[in-house]
Amino acid sequence: MRLADPLGAVPSVVPTVGSKELVALLPTMLGLRGAGTVLIPEVAYPTYEVGAVLAGLTVRRTDTPPADVAGVVLVWLNSPGNPHGRVLTDDELRAWVAWGRAHGVPVVADECYATLGWDVEPRSILHPEVAGEDHTGLLAVHSLSKQSTAAGYRAGLLSGDPALVRQVWEVRRHLGLLVPTPVQSAMAAALADDAHVDEQRERYRGRRDRLATAVRAAGARIDHSEAGLYLWVTRDEDCWTTIDWLAGLGIVAAPGSFYGPAGGRHVRMALTATDERVDAAVERLVG
Ligand SMILES: Cc1ncc(COP(=O)(O)O)c(C=O)c1O
Repeated sequence: MRLADPLGAVPSVVPTVGSKELVALLPTMLGLRGAGTVLIPEVAYPTYEVGAVLAGLTVRRTDTPPADVAGVVLVWLNSPGNPHGRVLTDDELRAWVAWGRAHGVPVVADECYATLGWDVEPRSILHPEVAGEDHTGLLAVHSLSKQSTAAGYRAGLLSGDPALVRQVWEVRRHLGLLVPTPVQSAMAAALADDAHVDEQRERYRGRRDRLATAVRAAGARIDHSEAGLYLWVTRDEDCWTTIDWLAGLGIVAAPGSFYGPAGGRHVRMALTATDERVDAAVERLVG
């Protein structure tokens, strides 16, 4: 792959300082400041809203392309999703692509958990089966934080519609939002090696299997969670009641309401703790 050329040639893939700053700044960098609405998932990583607010925009939560397009300037998709691990099907992705093209609205997919499919194989919005050969109006965001456990490197990637990529790249140069050369070299090395990604995925798979079995044995239900780094857990009660129950066992989870009102009856349990800590949680849940 080709990373940003320091002499100024326009790259087809822009390295970013992790993907979070890109998520937070994309509406601003696309020049969308002012009045308008950004569509985000019903239950969503909070930074999509942060980025909209920063640009003076409002958000509307929806998981399906809306009939009412008035004022919509950007769409965020997130598949596999944080916090619930939901994966959009090809048909769902195609529906968003068609909707964005019909209304001239850019559709951006945050795919930072793309390599962590358990029950299904996540597909990029840029895949020919979804987008055809034309990426107009589409962007994909990726990160090495999850697939390479490299969050400390701050290594993300933006690709897709050449015109949008160029615009973002030009603004980023003037903001000084450049990825240091050693980190770009580390990114290139990590992206050229699938073995460590496979090894880490199997580590997560083991934790996921053990924790999911224990959560179910303790009487809770797991929804979605077919990919990604989290279990989306519910006992069909307010999420804070579930948080209390887990806290009583010495287990920390995230309240689903943090990700939007529709998450109010779930909690997010992460697979990012060490094997030893996950096994301790398993023992407490079944003990
Ligand atoms: C959906 C989603 N997007 C983006 C990020 C940002 O990750 P990073 O900045 O480490 O690439 C996260 C981190 O948790 C996330 O869950």
